[in-house]
Amino acid sequence: MPKKIQYSDYLNLENILSTQNLESTKLGDESHEEMLFIITHQTYELWFKQILWELDSILKELDGKNIPDHSMSVVVHRLKRVNEIWRLLIEQIRVLESMTPLEFLEFRNALYPASGFQSKQFRLIENKLGLNTKDRKLHSGCPYHQFLKEEEQSQVLESETQTTLKNAIENWLERTPYLKTQNYNFWKDYKSTAKEIFENEIRLINKSPIKDSEKLSSINSVKTQQKEFDEFMSKETFKKDRWSFSFESLQAALFIQLYRHEPKLQLANRLIEELIQLDEQMTLWRSRHAQMAYRMLGEKVGTGGSNGASYLKEATESHSVFKDFFRLTTYFIKGRSLKRPKHL
Ligand code: HEM
Repeated sequence: MPKKIQYSDYLNLENILSTQNLESTKLGDESHEEMLFIITHQTYELWFKQILWELDSILKELDGKNIPDHSMSVVVHRLKRVNEIWRLLIEQIRVLESMTPLEFLEFRNALYPASGFQSKQFRLIENKLGLNTKDRKLHSGCPYHQFLKEEEQSQVLESETQTTLKNAIENWLERTPYLKTQNYNFWKDYKSTAKEIFENEIRLINKSPIKDSEKLSSINSVKTQQKEFDEFMSKETFKKDRWSFSFESLQAALFIQLYRHEPKLQLANRLIEELIQLDEQMTLWRSRHAQMAYRMLGEKVGTGGSNGASYLKEATESHSVFKDFFRLTTYFIKGRSLKRPKHL
């Protein structure tokens, strides 16, 4: 008869539960809250492991030129799980905040210079998502990987060179069919509808019973918006340096979202929605973590040597991978104003 697996053996609990070693105890001045601090971080690292597990599988599903609907569905499903994990990770900060700044101060020096900044798994998540090294906020003028243990650096540097979720999504978007057929051209249609909308707005302003000076200022603001639309809509004037996705992939992302209810585009739209949520959840985590760091440290420097909460705030602003999807909303026009393509 096969041996029955015991719960604690299956989960390797003896191992896991014997790895909470308080530095303050070792120093002969045990601090009660250090247990909470260690367990919280370990729990994060376990969830980071699960996120990496999902991300690696997602990248495999997205590998190749023809991604079947089945794979897309798996990707959406797993991204949804990753987003649920991030929600939990944001909520979890409250548990750690049950420790007061003064309780943290009791043992903080004992862990110096260790810091979450040295989390290899967090860096792998960022790199696999597609955070570009040149967009990273540096601290102490050193590249981020130099803060990791030597044996961890090569794995993290290697992840910078591999296909990222951002690359995979950009390639997938660029291959979106249906934008142009014999009788249909999405971009042409979108451009002429946008033009009509602006012209209509100007007509309405001109007709409205407001003072001429107010009319002029409203018309000028519509014209400024129209100029931005015009620049965005033409490949010649499209400002590549302001976007991280290509012109073609942004067109496709716009198309998918504007026609999100059409059966052929629903799954693609769900994927974009999950990516937006992923970016949003991570930004919320960064911002919540920065706020906690500020509460715990005030303006002290971090144990990892950065200028503490202010480094974290800057990173929150600039480490977003899918920010283009947020900016793209600027170019949304009412779905009703667009023609409904017959082939969708
Ligand atoms: C008392 C609680 C905490 C404080 C005061 C704190 C403070 C800080 C500070 C100041 C930094 C910037 C680097 C440095 O100089 O050390 C940092 C980075 C970081 N911390 Fe925390 N942290 C806390 C809890 C956590 C927890 C529970 C996690 C979960 C893993 C975590 C993960 C990270 C990560 C991933 C970074 C790098 C962020 C980035 O570079 O964008 N921290 N933390």
